[in-house]
Amino acid sequence: MTESDLPHPPTRDLCGTMLVHRRLLNESTTYRSRRAAIENRALQYERGRRSPSRTGVVTIPVVVHVVHNPAVPAQNIPDDQIRSQIEVLNRDFRAANPDRDKVPEVWRPLVADAGIEFRMASLDPDGEPTDGIVRVPTDRTSFGFDDAVKASATGGADPWPTDQYLNIWVCQLGGGLLGYAQFPGGPPQTDGVVILHSAFGTTGTAAPPFDGGRTATHEIGHWLDLYHIWGDDDGACSSDDKVADTPNQADANTGSPAFPHVSCGNGPHGDMFMNYMDYVDDDAMFMFTRGQANRMDACLEGVRASFLVAPGALSGPSRPTAGEPSARNGTAPGTAVPRAAMPGPSHWPAPAAAPGVTGTGAMGTTATGAMGTTATGAMGTTATAGATVPAQPGPDGHAGPDGEVRRLLRDSERLATEVLKEIRTVIDMVGGDRPEA
Ligand code: ARG
Ligand code: ZN
Ligand code: CA
Repeated sequence: MTESDLPHPPTRDLCGTMLVHRRLLNESTTYRSRRAAIENRALQYERGRRSPSRTGVVTIPVVVHVVHNPAVPAQNIPDDQIRSQIEVLNRDFRAANPDRDKVPEVWRPLVADAGIEFRMASLDPDGEPTDGIVRVPTDRTSFGFDDAVKASATGGADPWPTDQYLNIWVCQLGGGLLGYAQFPGGPPQTDGVVILHSAFGTTGTAAPPFDGGRTATHEIGHWLDLYHIWGDDDGACSSDDKVADTPNQADANTGSPAFPHVSCGNGPHGDMFMNYMDYVDDDAMFMFTRGQANRMDACLEGVRASFLVAPGALSGPSRPTAGEPSARNGTAPGTAVPRAAMPGPSHWPAPAAAPGVTGTGAMGTTATGAMGTTATGAMGTTATAGATVPAQPGPDGHAGPDGEVRRLLRDSERLATEVLKEIRTVIDMVGGDRPEA
């Protein structure tokens, strides 16, 4: 737990996401310990002690809940506005957004293809065909960040299983809120992102300067464990986003700043305010960094591993097969664990034959994800540990066959313990996310 994780009084500058984060930290020991485990894993990726093992693109099934008040028909946004949002996401998370060439020269090498695509769900939780859009009338005039929009009992819409779908609620938000997300590790029944309808997509009710679909890009960044680029420390420069390749920055930038904007002694280039995790206008943000993509991978291969192994919510091939991965654009973050230490190409989980959601035992899916992910981590750990254990004399002071065997035994025991611990941790993080019965 770091300083930025400690509860402190909300300020005007906090977005809904951080307010929810602090509320959960205050209320839930489960959330606190899960956040610590998730942060620990992210740190291992950040330090290069572990590297992302996936090479292909992951496709996330999306369900959009349009929660609208019939008295205000505009809230019931059209299908093509929803499609326009998905298109923006598929450009932004693949670094295929046309405005990426506005990234200042100095940071171009950092622009990352996150290797994530989004597709409207084509199977609902019962395995029936769907367009992934749920329209729910409400008598509420607007919503806040209290999660009321996420449950039918409070005038909203219940989520689809949050380990298989990215749930997006689109509604009227109050208080100038454009959107908010829940970080990974939170309660499953409120997992997902909420977006103001007029800050969603690029057509229909989308209104400038938030009509570029970037609110969803930003909130999904949080959903994949990214913090605000300035570290939410109200200008103190004391905490950051836990990503090394984004410059430490004092506070949020807004509008459309001129480059460079220097703070926290981060000159000459200053703040990376064109990052999706700042607060600038939609047409002023256009990049994730490699470090951020790496952190999202830590999340996807950890607490959100169910999305790597469960194509149930998408009928048809949802992602590349083992033989033919559609590769990310050569922006894989630097690797400290040698490639040889990673499982071979067969590591990419073979897509199950598009099972119906009901046919795929949720627990079974989860366990597979956890095991698969853990195996990867374990391999990396094994290789690292192996490399740092020199052939030493046995405890009896000589390196005879006995000492050698004992040394090997000790090493194996230690490694087995480490692997078991990791399996437990991941199963706990993934499996533990289900609602209490
Ligand atoms: N949660 C932030 C807010 O409500 C979203 C900021 C998104 N920024 C943007 N340019 N779309 O203010
Ligand atoms: Zn935010
Ligand atoms: Ca940083």
